[in-house]
Amino acid sequence: MDFRGAHIISVKQFERTDVDKVFQVADNMEPYAHRKRVSNVLGGAILGNMFFEPSTRTRVSFGCAFNLLGGHVRETTDVKTSSITKGESLYDTARVISGYSDVIVMRHPKVASVAEFAKASRVPVINGGDGPNEHPSQALLDLYTIKKELESKQRKIDGMHIAMVGDLKHGRTVHSLSQLLLLYEDIKLTLISPQELRMPAAIVAELQANGHEVVETEDMEAGLSDNDTVYLTRIQEERFTNRLEADIYRGRFRLNQAIYTRNCQPNTVIMHPLPRDSREDANELDNDLNQHPNLAIFRQTDNGVLVRMALFALILDVADKVDQAAADVGWYTERRF
Ligand code: NCD
Repeated sequence: MDFRGAHIISVKQFERTDVDKVFQVADNMEPYAHRKRVSNVLGGAILGNMFFEPSTRTRVSFGCAFNLLGGHVRETTDVKTSSITKGESLYDTARVISGYSDVIVMRHPKVASVAEFAKASRVPVINGGDGPNEHPSQALLDLYTIKKELESKQRKIDGMHIAMVGDLKHGRTVHSLSQLLLLYEDIKLTLISPQELRMPAAIVAELQANGHEVVETEDMEAGLSDNDTVYLTRIQEERFTNRLEADIYRGRFRLNQAIYTRNCQPNTVIMHPLPRDSREDANELDNDLNQHPNLAIFRQTDNGVLVRMALFALILDVADKVDQAAADVGWYTERRF
């Protein structure tokens, strides 16, 4: 894949060597993300960060990633304050915003909206989530995290066992992550969800056609045994036509210290794209695991910055110039834990 000037709309665009490339550039971003060095390689460049759906970490981490490379960020955070509420088309919005930006990140509630936007855009567009469809940068940061976590335990992505838990029907992160796993070999996926919220059949069929083993179950405790990674998700209540229907499923599949200890392998890595729904009736990932060494959720969010910096550096073709435009950091940078 030629990253220079490319739109990143779907994980299906990636070959395995492309994923390796992103991960390799992400590794190089560590001193910058950890505030050891500052780079100004994107000095003067502008990111149009267009979020037409709620977001905290995706929006902020894309913005930080761009800032850490020296660029500026302009953003829309709400459909209500944008001209889309005045009836403006995606085409017009794309023509306008791409005149102000060097690259755009776009999140929108409608499936395929970001692809439609990208067609009209004069600059590269990254999909920050198009409804329940895809979330490619999240899948890349999830896989980057899985790779690092497993490597620290002398294991690897090929041959791994992963359980995905929760709303697998509406969760775009699990859709993209599963499809990215098509690039790897011999994976066992245990898909734990209510019958009504199963992973789309087309994705399951692709995984099986690729030689992966797929087990679909409603039995969480049995499904949790024998995994390298457990990836939990929130019930995506905003995707239900009748929001009250989400109440039926919320809280059905939960992981806490006791369930983990009883059912998971001692080495199992715990992941979640966040936000976790911490309301009492949901609580799919309990706070009593917060100090657990295998809880990788905040390493995941930290890795998001590295991976998003890598995407910008590759798309804007500065990956090999980052270090030349760098200096040491002059302010206090100790991090408390
Ligand atoms: C996810 C999303 O927006 O799809 N969040 C994220 O980007 N990290 C998951 C979710 O909202 O449940």
